[in-house]
Amino acid sequence: MGREMINAIRDSLIFYRELGFQYIPGDRDIGSCKVHTDPSRTPFIKEKINDPDAELDSLRKEIGDCHRCKLSSNRTHIVFGEGSSRAEIMFIGEAPGREEDIQARPFVGDAGKLLTSLIEKMGLRRDEVYIGNIVKCRPPYNRDPEEDEIDTCRQFIERQIDIIKPRVIISLGRISAQSLLNTRIPISKLRGRFWEYKGIALMPTFHPAYLLRNPKDKWLTWQDAMMVLERLGRK
Ligand code: URA
Repeated sequence: MGREMINAIRDSLIFYRELGFQYIPGDRDIGSCKVHTDPSRTPFIKEKINDPDAELDSLRKEIGDCHRCKLSSNRTHIVFGEGSSRAEIMFIGEAPGREEDIQARPFVGDAGKLLTSLIEKMGLRRDEVYIGNIVKCRPPYNRDPEEDEIDTCRQFIERQIDIIKPRVIISLGRISAQSLLNTRIPISKLRGRFWEYKGIALMPTFHPAYLLRNPKDKWLTWQDAMMVLERLGRK
């Protein structure tokens, strides 16, 4: 190793030591790393290096009172997403519906109640997972989001995934799976096995609204959920 490289590494180590670190943290372990307890320094370190809550807040601020696509003209609220910023599982739906638009929260209508009961059957609480959507504003009359709307909004769910770094994504319904996987394969063929989204395991399953209309298919979504639990070592 050349002298320049050694000097650069030494400078970096001094930099981290001066910030209070006793070892170099990995991506995930910043929350538990040992730092000197100078209270004036800790918030600076967390914010600077890895604070997914702060990153999500700043993404929300960046979205602002969005008018990037035509959905903005009919919506009441932007539905950003909610849950744990350190979730192992991220559920991604399609777009807010009427109730979500009113409450500014994802999956709080009838389909949301079914999703909540699935999450609970999986042995989890809603606040332990993260729930988001491909587009953040309600399409009029609950129509499917159009391609230009998906293309405009896609960057935001992609950045939420980048910030949260879940171990598994469960995509809900055709539009979510097809948008994330950039494919036209029908949901009936996508579901039931893992795919990959930027190195993250992705399990497509049916949308809860579809399951409300076709309860006989609920067991298939339960099978998908069990494969996810198995992969996470929770079963
Ligand atoms: N359907 C979705 O796809 N997302 C929601 O938030 C609610 C219903």
